[in-house]
Amino acid sequence: MGKLSGKTAIITGASAPAGIGATAARLFHAEGANLMLVDVDEAPLAALANELGAAFMVADVSQDDANREIVAATLDRRGGLDAALLNAGIVGNIMPTVDYDLDLFDKVLAVNVRGVFLGLKHMMPAMEASGGSIVITSSTAGIRALPGLAAYTASKHAVIGLMRTAALEGAAHNIRVNTVNPSPIATPMMDKMEDMNGVTDADRQNFPLAQGTPLKRYGKPEEVARMMLFLASDDASFSTGGVYMVDGGVSAGRV
Ligand SMILES: NC(=O)c1ccc[n+]([C@@H]2O[C@H](COP(=O)([O-])OP(=O)(O)OC[C@H]3O[C@@H](n4cnc5c(N)ncnc54)[C@H](O)[C@@H]3O)[C@@H](O)[C@H]2O)c1
Repeated sequence: MGKLSGKTAIITGASAPAGIGATAARLFHAEGANLMLVDVDEAPLAALANELGAAFMVADVSQDDANREIVAATLDRRGGLDAALLNAGIVGNIMPTVDYDLDLFDKVLAVNVRGVFLGLKHMMPAMEASGGSIVITSSTAGIRALPGLAAYTASKHAVIGLMRTAALEGAAHNIRVNTVNPSPIATPMMDKMEDMNGVTDADRQNFPLAQGTPLKRYGKPEEVARMMLFLASDDASFSTGGVYMVDGGVSAGRV
């Protein structure tokens, strides 16, 4: 029996084929979950949903109505809601704070923070009757900063505040809420970060953005997905309000 057998889970940010959300979707499916996959990028989302026999919805997580519809469709098609990965996110730009574009700042906050707030707002009521687990994808940028990433860093700090508040509010209904905080992970988002840092193709195999990481490499999306699985499952039945690093030792210090 799988760790999520009989459970229904929503995963946002599930399109990018080599991304954390799609990788978690495959793992959750293998562990028996019924899935509702959500993303703005339709074609890969539909392909993954088809592969896994999952329901899917093309939706922008920063929109209130979209979140209401995601929950309604999940309850309609799957009959309940036991777990959610609030994982959709964008990185924005790498630029000093004094030069950072205001519209882009607002957009990063809208997807990464408002999207998580709306997910909590609409999904927690659907879990009240029988409890559940919500896992938010924060980052090492949620506990420390890097120059040039003002919007992203602010957003990933902010979701820890949302998580802690929701964990306290959800406890009476046995709704557990935690963050997973990855360091650089080999996904399309990391390709974009490398491009913005001017990394050449020749340098890519040397994990150029992981030089201060004690384990000296990027993480794999599977390594993040396994922490998400633990937190979403009953294995983590006493774990709520926590910040779970998947970071190759980054939070211990630099080497
Ligand atoms: N890759 C890393 O190094 C890393 C490290 C720490 C945290 N994270 C976080 O992990 C999460 C997943 O990142 P990833 O690396 O898989 O990135 P990714 O870019 O590969 O995937 C992100 C997904 O989110 C979707 N998305 C973007 N805006 C959306 C919106 N408004 N509504 C719905 N979906 C939307 C994208 O279409 C994409 O499929 C993000 O929250 C990211 O900030 C990533």
